[in-house]
Amino acid sequence: MRFDVFSIFPQYLAPLELSLIGKARKDGLLELNVHELREFTTDKHRSVDDTPYGGGAGMVMKPEPWAQALESIIDTAAETKPTLIVPSPAGEVFNQALAYELAEQEHLVFACGRYEGIDERVLEWAEEHFTVRPISLGDYVLNGGEVAVLAMVEAIGRLLPGVVGNPESLVEESHADGLLEYPVYTKPSTWRERDVPDVLLSGNHAKIAKYRKEQSLRRTSARRPELIEQMDATNLSKAERNTLWELGYAVVDHKVARRAAPGSTPTQD
Ligand code: ADE
Repeated sequence: MRFDVFSIFPQYLAPLELSLIGKARKDGLLELNVHELREFTTDKHRSVDDTPYGGGAGMVMKPEPWAQALESIIDTAAETKPTLIVPSPAGEVFNQALAYELAEQEHLVFACGRYEGIDERVLEWAEEHFTVRPISLGDYVLNGGEVAVLAMVEAIGRLLPGVVGNPESLVEESHADGLLEYPVYTKPSTWRERDVPDVLLSGNHAKIAKYRKEQSLRRTSARRPELIEQMDATNLSKAERNTLWELGYAVVDHKVARRAAPGSTPTQD
């Protein structure tokens, strides 16, 4: 898979030389090129921004350097359009499902905006050559797209075959099945008078799996209740349904809905 990142601060992307993503690049599992946007300016000040039409605070990124930059990587012989990701607090919110979807693409291009953003016409024009996706890291404002790109490249890159040493670790982690991951423990089994839950020392794998699923449901309900209501309840066991009931939810037509009064006894359906 190929990634191209355009930024006025290419040094911001230096952490992508480290750890698993850095190793994957060295091993040839992914190609990642970072480009300096100012290389694509033509004036002597190498300017990339100007004042906004209509007035208002801040500056807007000029269209010309962006068009030059993006044109430099358009491959007219390519069969499919690359995806152009424009990090922006005004984009759709990034999540694990989107990471999986983007990990299927051959070529991702990231356009890091700064200031008040990029002239809108760049995004319109880019539709001719790219599938354009404005994507937000979350409902807060960063100083530019670079930090969002670090997060997205890591989340997407680690899903590519061979990047994470043990692919099983991708199966049980938070968000893989729409829930938060259960709590984890290591040695010693007693630490500062706190014991690891007995079941995890039992060696009974079926019991451990059941316990972990219950913990996952409890943690998700406490921290991210909206994820519980988005669950697909088709394959829930009786024990999982009972846990959900205890947490204040009911399963209706393969969906999970909040009940009025949490804490009542489970029904025997
Ligand atoms: N640029 C500024 N804020 C951002 C956000 N929340 N997500 C992605 N890119 C951004």
